[in-house]
Amino acid sequence: MDRERAAVLDSSHHPPEAFTRVADSKDRTPATIVDVQGLSKIYPKKKASGEGGIWSKLGLRRSGPVEQFVAVDAIRFSIQAGEIFGLLGPNGAGKTTTIRMLCTLLEPTSGKATVNGYDIQRQPNLVRQNLGAVLTGERSIYWKLTGRENLQYFAALYHIPPALAKPRINELLERLDLAARADEYVERYSTGMKQRIAIAKALLANPPVLLLDEPTTGLDPQSARNLRELILEIKREGRTILLTTHYMEEADQLCDRIGIVDTGKIIALDTPARLKASIQQLDVIQAEVENVSPALVDELKRLQGAERLLARDNNSDGSCTISIHTLDSRALLPTVIDLIGTHAGRVRHLQVAQPTLEDVFITLTGKQLRD
Ligand SMILES: Nc1ncnc2c1ncn2[C@@H]1O[C@H](COP(=O)(O)OP(=O)(O)OP(=O)(O)O)[C@@H](O)[C@H]1O
Ligand SMILES: [Mg+2]
Repeated sequence: MDRERAAVLDSSHHPPEAFTRVADSKDRTPATIVDVQGLSKIYPKKKASGEGGIWSKLGLRRSGPVEQFVAVDAIRFSIQAGEIFGLLGPNGAGKTTTIRMLCTLLEPTSGKATVNGYDIQRQPNLVRQNLGAVLTGERSIYWKLTGRENLQYFAALYHIPPALAKPRINELLERLDLAARADEYVERYSTGMKQRIAIAKALLANPPVLLLDEPTTGLDPQSARNLRELILEIKREGRTILLTTHYMEEADQLCDRIGIVDTGKIIALDTPARLKASIQQLDVIQAEVENVSPALVDELKRLQGAERLLARDNNSDGSCTISIHTLDSRALLPTVIDLIGTHAGRVRHLQVAQPTLEDVFITLTGKQLRD
Protein backbone atom coordinates (compact mmCIF):
# COMPACT_ATOMS: atom_id res chain seq x y z
CA MET A 1 0.00 0.00 0.00
CA ASP A 2 1.40 3.43 -0.78
CA ARG A 3 2.02 5.98 1.92
CA GLU A 4 -0.80 8.35 0.84
CA ARG A 5 -3.34 5.56 0.96
CA ALA A 6 -2.04 4.52 4.37
CA ALA A 7 -2.35 8.08 5.61
CA VAL A 8 -5.89 8.40 4.33
CA LEU A 9 -6.82 5.15 6.00
CA ASP A 10 -5.06 6.14 9.19
CA SER A 11 -6.64 9.57 9.32
CA SER A 12 -10.08 8.04 9.49
CA HIS A 13 -9.39 6.93 13.06
CA HIS A 14 -11.07 8.91 15.77
CA PRO A 15 -9.71 8.22 19.18
CA PRO A 16 -11.98 7.29 22.02
CA GLU A 17 -12.23 9.63 24.99
CA ALA A 18 -10.20 7.64 27.45
CA PHE A 19 -7.26 5.34 27.01
CA THR A 20 -7.25 3.59 30.31
CA ARG A 21 -9.68 0.94 29.16
CA VAL A 22 -10.45 -0.77 25.92
CA ALA A 23 -12.46 1.45 23.64
CA ASP A 24 -16.12 1.19 22.77
CA SER A 25 -17.17 -1.00 25.64
CA LYS A 26 -19.63 1.54 27.00
CA ASP A 27 -23.06 0.21 26.27
CA ARG A 28 -22.63 -2.19 23.41
CA THR A 29 -19.99 -4.85 23.44
CA PRO A 30 -21.40 -7.62 21.33
CA ALA A 31 -20.35 -11.09 22.39
CA THR A 32 -19.44 -11.65 18.77
CA ILE A 33 -16.96 -8.95 17.90
CA VAL A 34 -15.82 -10.14 14.47
CA ASP A 35 -18.36 -11.89 12.30
CA VAL A 36 -17.37 -13.22 8.89
CA GLN A 37 -20.13 -14.65 6.74
CA GLY A 38 -19.21 -16.27 3.46
CA LEU A 39 -16.42 -13.85 2.58
CA SER A 40 -14.71 -14.48 -0.76
CA LYS A 41 -11.97 -12.86 -2.79
CA ILE A 42 -11.59 -13.79 -6.41
CA TYR A 43 -8.70 -12.39 -8.42
CA PRO A 44 -8.69 -12.28 -12.18
CA LYS A 45 -5.79 -14.42 -13.28
CA LYS A 46 -4.47 -13.13 -16.57
CA LYS A 47 -3.12 -15.99 -18.56
CA ALA A 48 -0.47 -15.10 -21.08
CA SER A 49 -1.14 -16.49 -24.51
CA GLY A 50 0.77 -19.60 -25.53
CA GLU A 51 3.84 -18.00 -27.05
CA GLY A 52 5.33 -14.60 -26.33
CA GLY A 53 4.07 -14.41 -22.73
CA ILE A 54 6.24 -11.45 -21.80
CA TRP A 55 4.95 -9.39 -24.76
CA SER A 56 1.44 -9.76 -23.46
CA LYS A 57 2.55 -8.78 -19.98
CA LEU A 58 4.26 -5.71 -21.35
CA GLY A 59 1.03 -4.80 -23.09
CA LEU A 60 2.52 -5.26 -26.57
CA ARG A 61 0.35 -8.22 -27.47
CA ARG A 62 -3.20 -9.10 -26.62
CA SER A 63 -3.32 -11.30 -23.52
CA GLY A 64 -5.09 -14.62 -23.37
CA PRO A 65 -8.34 -15.47 -21.59
CA VAL A 66 -8.89 -14.15 -18.07
CA GLU A 67 -9.18 -17.00 -15.59
CA GLN A 68 -10.42 -16.58 -12.08
CA PHE A 69 -8.46 -17.45 -9.02
CA VAL A 70 -10.30 -17.94 -5.74
CA ALA A 71 -7.93 -16.72 -3.01
CA VAL A 72 -10.56 -16.78 -0.24
CA ASP A 73 -13.48 -19.11 -0.70
CA ALA A 74 -16.67 -18.26 1.19
CA ILE A 75 -15.12 -18.45 4.64
CA ARG A 76 -17.21 -18.01 7.74
CA PHE A 77 -16.19 -17.68 11.36
CA SER A 78 -17.01 -15.49 14.29
CA ILE A 79 -14.75 -14.29 17.06
CA GLN A 80 -16.01 -13.70 20.58
CA ALA A 81 -14.94 -10.60 22.49
CA GLY A 82 -11.73 -11.22 24.40
CA GLU A 83 -10.64 -14.20 22.34
CA ILE A 84 -7.43 -14.81 20.46
CA PHE A 85 -8.52 -16.39 17.20
CA GLY A 86 -5.91 -17.82 14.86
CA LEU A 87 -5.99 -18.51 11.15
CA LEU A 88 -3.45 -21.27 10.66
CA GLY A 89 -2.44 -22.34 7.19
CA PRO A 90 0.38 -22.78 4.69
CA ASN A 91 1.73 -20.18 2.25
CA GLY A 92 -0.93 -18.91 -0.11
CA ALA A 93 -3.83 -20.24 1.96
CA GLY A 94 -5.57 -16.84 1.94
CA LYS A 95 -4.77 -15.63 5.46
CA THR A 96 -3.42 -12.18 4.53
CA THR A 97 -6.17 -11.67 1.98
CA THR A 98 -8.76 -12.32 4.72
CA ILE A 99 -7.07 -9.89 7.12
CA ARG A 100 -6.81 -7.23 4.41
CA MET A 101 -10.52 -7.51 3.66
CA LEU A 102 -11.34 -7.13 7.36
CA CYS A 103 -9.12 -4.02 7.59
CA THR A 104 -11.07 -2.59 4.63
CA LEU A 105 -7.89 -2.43 2.54
CA LEU A 106 -9.27 -4.90 0.04
CA GLU A 107 -12.79 -5.10 -1.37
CA PRO A 108 -14.36 -8.54 -0.95
CA THR A 109 -15.76 -10.14 -4.10
CA SER A 110 -18.73 -11.42 -2.13
CA GLY A 111 -19.89 -12.12 1.38
CA LYS A 112 -20.19 -10.00 4.45
CA ALA A 113 -18.26 -9.24 7.61
CA THR A 114 -18.67 -7.00 10.62
CA VAL A 115 -16.19 -5.72 13.18
CA ASN A 116 -17.68 -4.66 16.51
CA GLY A 117 -21.04 -4.59 14.75
CA TYR A 118 -19.90 -2.40 11.82
CA ASP A 119 -20.11 -3.62 8.25
CA ILE A 120 -16.74 -3.66 6.46
CA GLN A 121 -18.28 -2.51 3.18
CA ARG A 122 -20.96 -0.10 4.31
CA GLN A 123 -19.19 1.39 7.36
CA PRO A 124 -15.47 1.20 6.59
CA ASN A 125 -14.56 4.27 8.66
CA LEU A 126 -16.25 2.89 11.75
CA VAL A 127 -14.58 -0.47 11.16
CA ARG A 128 -11.18 1.22 11.00
CA GLN A 129 -11.87 3.07 14.24
CA ASN A 130 -12.48 -0.25 15.93
CA LEU A 131 -9.38 -2.09 14.89
CA GLY A 132 -5.64 -1.80 14.87
CA ALA A 133 -3.68 -3.85 12.37
CA VAL A 134 -0.13 -4.95 11.80
CA LEU A 135 0.21 -6.37 8.30
CA THR A 136 3.11 -8.17 6.72
CA GLY A 137 4.80 -6.72 3.69
CA GLU A 138 3.52 -3.26 4.40
CA ARG A 139 5.76 -0.72 5.98
CA SER A 140 3.43 1.43 7.99
CA ILE A 141 6.18 2.95 10.14
CA TYR A 142 8.51 5.70 8.92
CA TRP A 143 12.08 4.49 9.20
CA LYS A 144 13.48 8.01 8.94
CA LEU A 145 11.66 9.06 12.10
CA THR A 146 12.36 7.91 15.63
CA GLY A 147 10.01 5.50 17.35
CA ARG A 148 8.56 8.30 19.46
CA GLU A 149 8.17 10.63 16.44
CA ASN A 150 6.29 7.91 14.59
CA LEU A 151 3.81 7.58 17.43
CA GLN A 152 3.49 11.38 17.69
CA TYR A 153 2.85 11.61 13.96
CA PHE A 154 0.16 8.92 13.99
CA ALA A 155 -1.41 10.32 17.17
CA ALA A 156 -1.84 13.62 15.33
CA LEU A 157 -3.22 11.80 12.30
CA TYR A 158 -5.75 10.04 14.56
CA HIS A 159 -6.71 13.40 16.12
CA ILE A 160 -5.66 12.30 19.58
CA PRO A 161 -5.45 15.45 21.73
CA PRO A 162 -1.81 16.15 22.68
CA ALA A 163 -2.60 16.05 26.39
CA LEU A 164 -3.80 12.47 25.98
CA ALA A 165 -1.28 11.50 23.34
CA LYS A 166 1.85 12.20 25.38
CA PRO A 167 1.12 9.89 28.34
CA ARG A 168 -0.33 7.29 25.97
CA ILE A 169 2.83 7.27 23.85
CA ASN A 170 5.03 7.00 26.94
CA GLU A 171 2.88 4.18 28.28
CA LEU A 172 3.07 2.27 24.98
CA LEU A 173 6.83 2.77 24.61
CA GLU A 174 7.26 1.48 28.15
CA ARG A 175 4.92 -1.48 27.68
CA LEU A 176 6.49 -2.52 24.40
CA ASP A 177 9.96 -2.29 25.90
CA LEU A 178 11.00 0.51 23.56
CA ALA A 179 11.39 3.36 26.05
CA ALA A 180 15.19 3.20 26.12
CA ARG A 181 15.43 3.36 22.31
CA ALA A 182 12.42 5.63 21.68
CA ASP A 183 14.50 8.50 20.37
CA GLU A 184 16.52 6.50 17.87
CA TYR A 185 15.65 6.25 14.20
CA VAL A 186 13.46 3.26 13.44
CA GLU A 187 15.85 2.22 10.64
CA ARG A 188 18.31 1.31 13.39
CA TYR A 189 15.80 -0.88 15.19
CA SER A 190 16.05 -4.68 15.09
CA THR A 191 13.29 -6.63 13.32
CA GLY A 192 11.66 -7.37 16.67
CA MET A 193 11.72 -3.70 17.67
CA LYS A 194 10.24 -2.67 14.32
CA GLN A 195 7.46 -5.17 14.89
CA ARG A 196 6.86 -3.78 18.40
CA ILE A 197 6.71 -0.16 17.24
CA ALA A 198 4.18 -1.24 14.58
CA ILE A 199 2.11 -2.86 17.34
CA ALA A 200 2.41 0.31 19.45
CA LYS A 201 1.05 2.26 16.47
CA ALA A 202 -1.82 -0.21 16.09
CA LEU A 203 -2.71 0.23 19.78
CA LEU A 204 -2.42 4.02 19.76
CA ALA A 205 -6.12 4.71 19.27
CA ASN A 206 -6.99 2.03 21.83
CA PRO A 207 -9.00 -0.21 19.47
CA PRO A 208 -10.97 -3.16 20.86
CA VAL A 209 -9.78 -5.45 18.05
CA LEU A 210 -6.20 -6.11 16.97
CA LEU A 211 -5.34 -7.89 13.70
CA LEU A 212 -1.84 -9.35 13.51
CA ASP A 213 -0.63 -10.91 10.29
CA GLU A 214 2.20 -13.38 10.97
CA PRO A 215 3.39 -11.42 14.00
CA THR A 216 6.50 -13.49 14.75
CA THR A 217 7.69 -14.35 11.25
CA GLY A 218 11.31 -13.32 10.82
CA LEU A 219 11.99 -12.90 14.53
CA ASP A 220 14.66 -14.78 16.44
CA PRO A 221 13.29 -17.35 18.93
CA GLN A 222 13.76 -15.09 21.96
CA SER A 223 12.04 -12.08 20.34
CA ALA A 224 9.26 -14.35 19.09
CA ARG A 225 8.74 -15.68 22.62
CA ASN A 226 8.63 -12.14 24.05
CA LEU A 227 6.16 -11.06 21.39
CA ARG A 228 3.88 -14.03 22.13
CA GLU A 229 3.94 -13.03 25.80
CA LEU A 230 3.02 -9.48 24.78
CA ILE A 231 0.11 -10.75 22.66
CA LEU A 232 -1.23 -12.60 25.69
CA GLU A 233 -0.90 -9.40 27.75
CA ILE A 234 -2.84 -7.46 25.12
CA LYS A 235 -5.56 -10.08 25.36
CA ARG A 236 -5.60 -9.74 29.16
CA GLU A 237 -6.42 -6.04 28.71
CA GLY A 238 -9.71 -7.19 27.23
CA ARG A 239 -8.85 -6.84 23.56
CA THR A 240 -9.83 -9.32 20.89
CA ILE A 241 -7.05 -10.53 18.63
CA LEU A 242 -7.17 -12.13 15.22
CA LEU A 243 -3.80 -13.44 14.16
CA THR A 244 -2.50 -15.45 11.28
CA THR A 245 0.38 -17.85 11.49
CA HIS A 246 1.88 -20.86 9.85
CA TYR A 247 3.59 -21.89 13.08
CA MET A 248 1.43 -24.54 14.67
CA GLU A 249 3.20 -24.21 18.06
CA GLU A 250 2.33 -20.53 18.08
CA ALA A 251 -1.30 -21.20 17.24
CA ASP A 252 -1.41 -23.88 19.91
CA GLN A 253 0.11 -21.66 22.58
CA LEU A 254 -1.75 -18.42 21.87
CA CYS A 255 -5.12 -19.15 20.38
CA ASP A 256 -8.38 -19.86 22.13
CA ARG A 257 -9.72 -21.13 18.82
CA ILE A 258 -8.14 -21.86 15.49
CA GLY A 259 -9.45 -21.93 11.97
CA ILE A 260 -7.28 -24.16 9.82
CA VAL A 261 -7.14 -22.65 6.33
CA ASP A 262 -6.09 -24.33 3.13
CA THR A 263 -6.58 -23.10 -0.44
CA GLY A 264 -8.91 -20.33 0.68
CA LYS A 265 -11.21 -22.50 2.78
CA ILE A 266 -11.54 -23.06 6.50
CA ILE A 267 -11.31 -26.82 6.74
CA ALA A 268 -11.57 -27.13 10.53
CA LEU A 269 -12.37 -24.75 13.34
CA ASP A 270 -12.14 -25.45 17.04
CA THR A 271 -10.02 -25.07 20.17
CA PRO A 272 -6.46 -26.42 19.85
CA ALA A 273 -7.28 -29.16 22.34
CA ARG A 274 -10.39 -30.30 20.50
CA LEU A 275 -8.65 -30.20 17.12
CA LYS A 276 -5.97 -32.49 18.51
CA ALA A 277 -8.52 -34.68 20.24
CA SER A 278 -10.26 -35.18 16.90
CA ILE A 279 -7.35 -37.37 15.84
CA GLN A 280 -6.44 -38.59 19.32
CA GLN A 281 -6.80 -42.24 18.43
CA LEU A 282 -3.80 -41.69 16.20
CA ASP A 283 -0.24 -42.38 17.41
CA VAL A 284 2.67 -40.65 15.78
CA ILE A 285 5.90 -42.64 15.57
CA GLN A 286 8.72 -40.14 15.22
CA ALA A 287 12.14 -41.41 14.29
CA GLU A 288 15.25 -39.33 13.74
CA VAL A 289 17.32 -41.41 11.37
CA GLU A 290 20.70 -41.01 9.70
CA ASN A 291 21.44 -42.40 6.26
CA VAL A 292 17.87 -42.56 4.99
CA SER A 293 17.47 -43.92 1.46
CA PRO A 294 14.46 -43.39 -0.83
CA ALA A 295 13.96 -47.17 -0.79
CA LEU A 296 13.58 -47.14 3.00
CA VAL A 297 11.00 -44.33 2.84
CA ASP A 298 9.14 -46.25 0.14
CA GLU A 299 8.98 -49.43 2.16
CA LEU A 300 7.92 -47.62 5.33
CA LYS A 301 5.13 -45.97 3.37
CA ARG A 302 3.86 -49.33 2.21
CA LEU A 303 3.81 -50.87 5.69
CA GLN A 304 0.47 -52.25 6.70
CA GLY A 305 -0.89 -50.06 9.51
CA ALA A 306 1.02 -46.92 8.47
CA GLU A 307 -1.73 -44.44 7.70
CA ARG A 308 0.53 -41.63 6.58
CA LEU A 309 4.25 -40.99 6.44
CA LEU A 310 6.23 -37.80 6.30
CA ALA A 311 9.97 -37.51 5.92
CA ARG A 312 11.66 -34.21 6.61
CA ASP A 313 15.39 -33.56 6.22
CA ASN A 314 17.18 -31.93 9.11
CA ASN A 315 19.61 -30.11 6.90
CA SER A 316 21.95 -29.06 9.65
CA ASP A 317 23.06 -32.57 10.59
CA GLY A 318 22.08 -34.70 7.60
CA SER A 319 19.54 -36.77 9.50
CA CYS A 320 15.92 -37.17 8.54
CA THR A 321 12.86 -36.99 10.77
CA ILE A 322 10.32 -39.61 9.81
CA SER A 323 6.81 -39.34 11.21
CA ILE A 324 4.40 -42.22 10.77
CA HIS A 325 0.74 -41.92 11.68
CA THR A 326 -0.71 -45.18 12.89
CA LEU A 327 -3.61 -46.47 14.91
CA ASP A 328 -1.43 -49.06 16.61
CA SER A 329 2.13 -47.97 17.31
CA ARG A 330 2.87 -51.00 19.47
CA ALA A 331 2.28 -53.37 16.58
CA LEU A 332 4.12 -51.25 14.04
CA LEU A 333 7.18 -50.16 16.01
CA PRO A 334 9.28 -53.39 15.81
CA THR A 335 8.76 -53.60 12.05
CA VAL A 336 9.77 -49.97 11.61
CA ILE A 337 13.00 -50.50 13.58
CA ASP A 338 13.78 -53.69 11.61
CA LEU A 339 13.24 -51.99 8.27
CA ILE A 340 15.47 -49.04 9.16
CA GLY A 341 18.22 -51.53 10.15
CA THR A 342 17.81 -53.55 6.94
CA HIS A 343 18.34 -50.38 4.89
CA ALA A 344 21.45 -49.42 6.87
CA GLY A 345 19.70 -46.44 8.50
CA ARG A 346 20.86 -45.44 11.99
CA VAL A 347 18.22 -44.46 14.53
CA ARG A 348 19.30 -41.49 16.63
CA HIS A 349 16.07 -40.95 18.45
CA LEU A 350 12.71 -42.67 18.47
CA GLN A 351 9.49 -41.80 20.24
CA VAL A 352 5.77 -42.32 20.08
CA ALA A 353 4.21 -38.87 20.35
CA GLN A 354 0.74 -37.44 20.72
CA PRO A 355 -0.63 -35.73 17.61
CA THR A 356 0.19 -32.05 17.19
CA LEU A 357 -1.79 -29.45 15.26
CA GLU A 358 0.46 -30.18 12.31
CA ASP A 359 -0.70 -33.80 12.44
CA VAL A 360 -4.28 -32.50 12.40
CA PHE A 361 -3.41 -30.47 9.33
CA ILE A 362 -1.76 -33.43 7.63
CA THR A 363 -4.73 -35.65 8.40
CA LEU A 364 -7.11 -33.09 6.92
CA THR A 365 -5.13 -32.13 3.83
CA GLY A 366 -2.63 -34.90 3.24
CA LYS A 367 0.18 -32.33 3.17
CA GLN A 368 2.56 -30.57 5.51
CA LEU A 369 2.03 -27.12 6.93
CA ARG A 370 5.61 -26.17 6.21
CA ASP A 371 7.72 -27.31 3.27
N1 LIG B 1 -3.26 -9.03 -5.92
C1 LIG B 1 -3.32 -10.34 -6.19
N2 LIG B 1 -3.62 -10.80 -7.42
C2 LIG B 1 -3.70 -12.11 -7.68
N3 LIG B 1 -3.53 -13.08 -6.76
C3 LIG B 1 -3.24 -12.69 -5.50
C4 LIG B 1 -3.10 -11.30 -5.14
N4 LIG B 1 -2.81 -11.25 -3.82
C5 LIG B 1 -2.73 -12.52 -3.39
N5 LIG B 1 -2.99 -13.39 -4.38
C6 LIG B 1 -3.02 -14.85 -4.29
O1 LIG B 1 -3.99 -15.23 -3.34
C7 LIG B 1 -3.56 -16.38 -2.62
C8 LIG B 1 -3.67 -16.13 -1.15
O2 LIG B 1 -2.67 -15.20 -0.79
P1 LIG B 1 -2.45 -14.72 0.71
O3 LIG B 1 -1.37 -13.70 0.69
O4 LIG B 1 -3.76 -14.33 1.30
O5 LIG B 1 -1.95 -16.06 1.41
P2 LIG B 1 -1.39 -16.27 2.88
O6 LIG B 1 -2.20 -17.34 3.49
O7 LIG B 1 -1.31 -14.97 3.58
O8 LIG B 1 0.06 -16.84 2.59
P3 LIG B 1 1.46 -16.59 3.34
O9 LIG B 1 1.54 -17.60 4.44
O10 LIG B 1 2.47 -16.86 2.26
O11 LIG B 1 1.49 -15.17 3.80
C9 LIG B 1 -2.15 -16.69 -3.10
O12 LIG B 1 -2.19 -17.74 -4.01
C10 LIG B 1 -1.71 -15.40 -3.75
O13 LIG B 1 -0.79 -15.65 -4.78
MG1 LIG C 1 0.24 -13.91 4.38
